[in-house]
Amino acid sequence: MSRPDFPNLTLLTHPLIQHKLTLLRDKRTPTKDFKQLAGEIAMLMAYEVTNDLPLEAVEIDTPLEHTRGVQVAGKKLTLVPILRAGLGMVEGIAQLIPSARVGHIGLYRDHDTLQPVDYYFKIPSGEQDRAFFVLDPMLATGGSAVAAVKALKKAGAARVRFLCLVAAPEGVKAMLAAHPDVPVYAAALDRQLNEHGYILPGLGDAGDRLFGTR
Ligand code: PRP
Ligand code: URA
Repeated sequence: MSRPDFPNLTLLTHPLIQHKLTLLRDKRTPTKDFKQLAGEIAMLMAYEVTNDLPLEAVEIDTPLEHTRGVQVAGKKLTLVPILRAGLGMVEGIAQLIPSARVGHIGLYRDHDTLQPVDYYFKIPSGEQDRAFFVLDPMLATGGSAVAAVKALKKAGAARVRFLCLVAAPEGVKAMLAAHPDVPVYAAALDRQLNEHGYILPGLGDAGDRLFGTR
């Protein structure tokens, strides 16, 4: 589903995604279930987001005869979680696309300024030819997503998509302003940010809920 006021955003409204998202939001959901649900939602999102991947013809032998099939064309898809919370989306997608490569971008949001602070960057080579999926459950002010995509592009990435579980209007607009060529996919577009930059209604601090820290 797309929204005319957010042309870069696609909302993934599959009933299973929405059902699991409600469980994820619930403050009673413990870390173990939160981790499982985040992975499952990411997997369902990836299934939808990959529906336009280009295919190429291949010839194979079944046990009975020679035949033609298709395979996903091009270099291996590359998942790039933004540390830490993006890690919670990797495993689910990797179950669907086991051959995916994984890069990592280390960023945390300064609690006072809400500005992203970077501390790690490592992605596979062949950047120009790869399709990148940047992963982070939360798109709040958009500072982290904008910085992560900027770093990827600086390294040579040309085909980038951003997948999050919950987006705030501010974050989607920040991505549109900084990276109009990067589609944003989310399970939900929430109402607003609070004075601490948390998404409302949101799901709280995704990293803390995933890893049991606080
Ligand atoms: C959270 C979240 C995003 C960022 C979103 O990370 O996982 O990376 O905040 O906020 P923004 O859109 O305003 O930049 P956090 O800084 O809490 O780090 P963590 O994942 O290590 O907990
Ligand atoms: N980061 C989070 O983990 N949650 C929010 O609501 C906003 C940023």
